[in-house]
Amino acid sequence: MVRRFADRPLGSETVDRILASALRAPSAGFAQGWAFLALTEPEDLDRFWPFVPNQVRHTPDLRNAPLVVIPLAHKAAYLERYAEPDKRWEDRAESRWPAPYWHIDTGMAALMMLLTAVDEGLGAFFFWIMPPVSELEVDGAVQVHLAALRAEFGIPDDFTPIGAIAVGHRATDLEPQDPRLSHRRRSMADVVHRGGWGRH
Ligand SMILES: Cc1cc2nc3c(=O)[nH]c(=O)nc-3n(C[C@H](O)[C@H](O)[C@H](O)COP(=O)(O)O)c2cc1C
Repeated sequence: MVRRFADRPLGSETVDRILASALRAPSAGFAQGWAFLALTEPEDLDRFWPFVPNQVRHTPDLRNAPLVVIPLAHKAAYLERYAEPDKRWEDRAESRWPAPYWHIDTGMAALMMLLTAVDEGLGAFFFWIMPPVSELEVDGAVQVHLAALRAEFGIPDDFTPIGAIAVGHRATDLEPQDPRLSHRRRSMADVVHRGGWGRH
């Protein structure tokens, strides 16, 4: 993740390639139950940054990013798609799903954009849209915060923002990554179970 960006614009073809890559993510039943709020105009970005106050305080150069994409999951599209004749889950029961594929697929689309940004020689960052720390402990604060985001950008109620992605040219004076992070990366032996749990 690159959290500090240079104050440099992106070409519109680059922005389009990044957005188009999201549409090539895999999706359960090819439901494609996602949407992407793309912000490139300075006045739109100015409307967005107040929704991530903690992040902006920690990494102010984040605000130089010329592109922010908010991937949104549309659960209803999945429940409808799987009620079709080739799937026949007409009861639309969420308990049938091994995991909420509407979130998973939207996350895969987000990863497509992160990787396409890297292919374009850019930096990218996935982060939470969360209320100020002072409000975090209040019950329901995150939902209230997301409702305000929906109102600001006209997002329909049944679309869930899973976070946001900032894309841009990396700042030229990026400090090397803290070596403690590399030490924290979990090893293959920790996470890969070859042939079953407890056998490697
Ligand atoms: C779903 C998700 C949410 C994240 N949210 C944040 C965030 O809100 N703020 C932040 O600084 N980093 C966030 N990150 C970035 C992680 O901290 C980062 O991926 C991790 O520390 C590993 O660093 P690397 O991706 O640079 O290797 C998020 C990553 C993911 C996948």
